[in-house]
Amino acid sequence: MKILVTGGAGFIGGNFIHDTLANYPDDTVICVDKLTYAGNMETLTPVMDNKNFFFEKADIADSVAIRAIFEKHHPDIVINFAAESHVDRSITDPGIFLKTNIIGTQVLLDASREFDVKRYHQVSTDEVYGDLPLDRPDLLFTEETPIHTSSPYSASKAGADLLCLAYIRTYKMPITISRCSNCYGPYHFPEKLIPLMLINAMQDKPLPVYGKGENVRDWLYVIDHCRAINLIVRNGTPGEIYNIGGHNERANIDVVKEILQQLGKPETLINYVTDRAGHDMRYGIDPTKINNELGWLPETKFEDGLKQTIKWFKENKKWWQNVLDGEYQKYYERNYGDRL
Ligand code: NAD
Ligand code: TYD
Repeated sequence: MKILVTGGAGFIGGNFIHDTLANYPDDTVICVDKLTYAGNMETLTPVMDNKNFFFEKADIADSVAIRAIFEKHHPDIVINFAAESHVDRSITDPGIFLKTNIIGTQVLLDASREFDVKRYHQVSTDEVYGDLPLDRPDLLFTEETPIHTSSPYSASKAGADLLCLAYIRTYKMPITISRCSNCYGPYHFPEKLIPLMLINAMQDKPLPVYGKGENVRDWLYVIDHCRAINLIVRNGTPGEIYNIGGHNERANIDVVKEILQQLGKPETLINYVTDRAGHDMRYGIDPTKINNELGWLPETKFEDGLKQTIKWFKENKKWWQNVLDGEYQKYYERNYGDRL
């Protein structure tokens, strides 16, 4: 099977490529990535010499480049991880989110249709459902929860999902969509909560917690997300949406305190800062459908996953130190300068 993976130099796509090449040795993986600030070739170093792996640098919104890549590789499966993925960046600069996340998806869908791919899979997010109240722990997102977005990021991801649903109905394309909760693990770009707090704490820098730190996220170890996607593209039903999550809701402040505790650092590093505009209160996934239909269950408990993640960041300082370059410093100043 030839699998074309977009966004494979990023966090989840990179982990997906490592895990797929290790567990499906008969498959070939072609990674297409524009190498934006979030894409890092060092994430792909462990697979660069694998004879079943190919890399193509391209923008998914560039229809000429994408068509040429499809013509060259003729993929059986296309999995679209590529996206602008950070809510805070979408608040300051929404335009690129619409271009990559919506137009990029349209370009990939059109190429998949022209080249008759057997499965197109859209990697979406639980953020398309909006948020849940803190005082109703009984409420969870199901696949039927209406789309109700809060940020330019989630709106652009919802736009892409709607486009996929339109192509299913109009062109009868074999498309699946997955909507996962917040992931964490190795190769996570340090603008997101867990790696940012980890790296700041390791350097004894303040940990900027938005608002009161009471917002809740439903955390899943990245490899559990990757395995769910492999199950969906191989055994899932075309035309279906699958929620992915492991019933692991935590308030941000509790996650931050757990990181400090595991690193042996003091809570005095915590710095409460101005809240994010439009900040979603709580995400909580109901994964019953993927459990029942595909037998998927998360394998990694949060405590173990966090330990493994901390160990990885301690052992891979070079990876994240290279990431903390000029662009990242400018972003950090832009996003946190007025807040602190
Ligand atoms: P990431 O920001 O770490 O990586 C994104 C990758 O896409 C980078 O390698 C980047 O270079 C590439 N990319 C960006 N624009 C591109 C373009 N125009 N053309 C080609 N490549 C481009 O993101 P991530 O956290 O790995 O997320 C991957 C996907 O999973 C996204 O679609 C995101 O919406 C979704 N998702 C993420 C989470 C999470 O917790 N991180 C949860 C649910 C869903
Ligand atoms: P993030 O990792 O950006 O993921 P998302 O917004 O997509 O859920 O943020 C996770 C939570 O952590 C979210 O409630 C915002 C909060 N947060 C902070 O408190 N401080 C930070 O510096 C960051 C990046 C996030």
